[in-house]
Amino acid sequence: MAETLLSNLVPQDETGRRAEMAPSGKAGTRVYLETYGCQMNIADSQLVNAVLRRAGYGSADKPQEADVILINTCAIREHAEERVIGRLSDLARLKHARPEVKLGLLGCMAQHNRASLIAKAPWLDLVAGPDTYRRLPELIGRSGFDPAVDVRLDRSETYAGLSPDYEAGVRAYITIMRGCDKFCAFCVVPYVRGRERSIPPDDIVREAEMVAARGFKEVVLLGQTVNAYRAGEIDFAALLRKVAAVEGIERVRFTSPHPSDMTEAAIEVMASEAKVQPYLHLPVQSGSDRVLAAMERGYTVGEYLDLVERLRLAIPGLALSTDVIVGFHGETEDDFQATLELMRMVRYDSAFSFKYSVREHTRAHRLGDSLTEEEKGRRLAELITLQEAISLERNRQLIGATFPVLVEGPARRGDGRMAGKTPQFKTVTFPGEDTITAGMTRPICIDSATGHSLSGTISSL
Ligand code: 5AD
Ligand code: SF4
Repeated sequence: MAETLLSNLVPQDETGRRAEMAPSGKAGTRVYLETYGCQMNIADSQLVNAVLRRAGYGSADKPQEADVILINTCAIREHAEERVIGRLSDLARLKHARPEVKLGLLGCMAQHNRASLIAKAPWLDLVAGPDTYRRLPELIGRSGFDPAVDVRLDRSETYAGLSPDYEAGVRAYITIMRGCDKFCAFCVVPYVRGRERSIPPDDIVREAEMVAARGFKEVVLLGQTVNAYRAGEIDFAALLRKVAAVEGIERVRFTSPHPSDMTEAAIEVMASEAKVQPYLHLPVQSGSDRVLAAMERGYTVGEYLDLVERLRLAIPGLALSTDVIVGFHGETEDDFQATLELMRMVRYDSAFSFKYSVREHTRAHRLGDSLTEEEKGRRLAELITLQEAISLERNRQLIGATFPVLVEGPARRGDGRMAGKTPQFKTVTFPGEDTITAGMTRPICIDSATGHSLSGTISSL
């Protein structure tokens, strides 16, 4: 998963219900916020930015310039936690030089193992879980000799009505539900993010209207199991239609759906609603029925493949990506081969693959690891090699085709090229022109491809 750093608290318009919150931060107190983990954490950091800005805090671009340093953390795998612990000891040196600096840890790690965390990093001033961000100004103010700790999970906290400080760009991520009720045996999310709760549809539509008015062209609806969304009569399919109806929003996406919640109605909306883009990240985790059952995923390989077939029939040109875990407890070589076989059958456009990491509190924790790190590493490498070949083949098949590309800005490599995304969420670069700016959609004819991106030229069509 991508790691992203956020540091700007850019003042922006807002429509949130909580706008009445009185400034309480010391004028001139500057906060530096660093974010690890998934898109949900990035969105949460934008909420934190909004809460702190409204409370009167300023922003710092570097930890060296900050009075308060916050790290929004991920607990999904041990590796993610180790990186944060490493980062915390770097920051401890900074705090040693300037003891008045407050250092806080937010997010999933704060929730996961706060006791051992405080033991490992006793210089922390505050520890705040994902449901406590409205109280952050108070927590920052309160932290003194002992760390201020608030890790209450709050079934009712959806942050509805609190408009995040979106990062500038063409795409805004709007959280529509929080938490997860699935309790997959390997996963810590239900324990660190709590029970599933959906944000009222009117708040979501209002937020989408607001981002459209601010010039965003694309909305990505976010949730841990986004298609489990339900608020009264409004299910995920109905919500998708409502968001697609918002004027000014040209593209609608969502992530991540759970295969078991992918209803016919949702497929129908994807098929019939032109703004809903033909791309789905559909985590499979394993291609073995035995392992899927042990993971408590709630579907079989046959059911998953049937869903893929229905999706592909209904949505022409659909791109698919997935998450796979190798080396779950008890995964045999045959189970692993079944996963490779599934990858060959589905032929995903891309895949995120992970070595299984035993997580405390989860149902599979007591089982431990049944494979060595080396064996997990071998399986991971084999799976990645296979998927890279498939991704390259699939992308090469697009050469000669033309796609409407939503332009995001200059390409990373520069040299006058610009970059954007196809409806299938594939990155395309093309030679820039003075008249082309971010937010425009242009037809781009693909002339070359790697496994990770496409390049092309503006089509005269
Ligand atoms: N070990 C390895 N990967 C995991 N994931 C979730 N929990 C674990 C774990 N304990 C992966 C899953 C999930 C993605 C976000 O992270 O593939 O879909
Ligand atoms: Fe974790 Fe499973 Fe919930 Fe996804 S659906 S967040 S893998 S428990």
